[in-house]
Amino acid sequence: MLTKRIFIFALLVFFAGGTLMAQNFKYIGASKCKMCHLKPAKGEQYNVWLKGPHAGAMKTLANEESKKIAAEMGIADPTTDPACIKCHSTVGSVDAKLIASAKMAEGVSCESCHGAGSMYKGASIMKNRDLAMQKGLVDPTEELCKTCHNEESPTYKPFNYAEKAALIAHPDPSKK
Ligand code: HEC
Ligand code: HEC
Ligand code: HEC
Ligand code: HEC
Repeated sequence: MLTKRIFIFALLVFFAGGTLMAQNFKYIGASKCKMCHLKPAKGEQYNVWLKGPHAGAMKTLANEESKKIAAEMGIADPTTDPACIKCHSTVGSVDAKLIASAKMAEGVSCESCHGAGSMYKGASIMKNRDLAMQKGLVDPTEELCKTCHNEESPTYKPFNYAEKAALIAHPDPSKK
């Protein structure tokens, strides 16, 4: 009886430990991905992202259109209000405890689509796709896009995945 209880206790500790591990994936910010994902021969993902719509999403919240939308909704400052930053920035979209070095100003950055990078960012892990997935790397899907591209957006435009994915594509030309 006692050994059975000890066994169950050990199992609980094991699973709780596993859950705690998962929570250890933290958001490190696009500048940490930059050094390795900047080479044109490999697709310079950092530069493509920087020129694309997501990197500028926080700047958008400071423009006149945003001020107007916010005023109509009774929101004083769209650049700090959770009702706007929860989709316009990676930092504003996750629990503050999960932020390591990511910055609000980077808007919607790499980790909103690829998962929190604190544990997979090492070169040897990154080169091993299966290992990287165990360490927090996520495969971007249509469902993931729609956590932000949905009718809760005050300026919602219909979201066709294939079309929209092509507009932000940053493939590695050295692969197949
Ligand atoms: C120390 C260098 C390094 C850092 C830092 C780094 N990466 Fe990588 N990354 C790599 C290498 C190397 C590969 C494998 C490329 C290959 O297969 O040719 C890779 C592959 C990837 C892939 C493709 C995985 C797949 O599905 O095959 C993604 C997505 C990715 N990195 C995202 C990120 C993000 C997001 C960050 C920042 C949070 C980041 N990387 C930081 C080196 C790095
Ligand atoms: C964390 C929230 C978030 C996620 C996840 C997200 N987006 Fe976005 N996306 C935004 C915001 C906010 C804008 C508006 C940026 C601006 O104009 O300042 C935007 C703009 C865009 C635009 C340009 C505007 C348009 O509708 O044509 C494209 C294209 C786009 N996203 C594609 C995608 C794709 C594809 C995915 C999934 C792989 C995705 N997004 C995931 C928040 C997100
Ligand atoms: C809005 C979502 C989104 C953001 C932001 C984003 N990516 Fe991606 N990324 C994708 C999608 C979608 C793919 C294609 C996945 C596929 O083909 O399965 C991709 C593919 C990749 C690949 C693999 C390329 C290949 O051909 O093997 C790398 C590397 C990568 N991204 C790195 C980054 C880095 C670094 C950043 C930030 C500087 C970033 N991504 C920002 C959605 C995003
Ligand atoms: C549910 C996620 C979400 C929320 C919440 C959200 N946005 Fe956005 N925002 C987006 C996306 C996605 C886009 C890209 C266009 C679209 O809606 O399809 C966008 C685009 C924009 C644009 C550019 C419009 C254009 O036509 O390019 C402005 C301005 C904007 N948002 C302001 C705001 C303000 C202000 C708030 C808070 C009151 C807010 N957004 C809340 C997701 C969101």
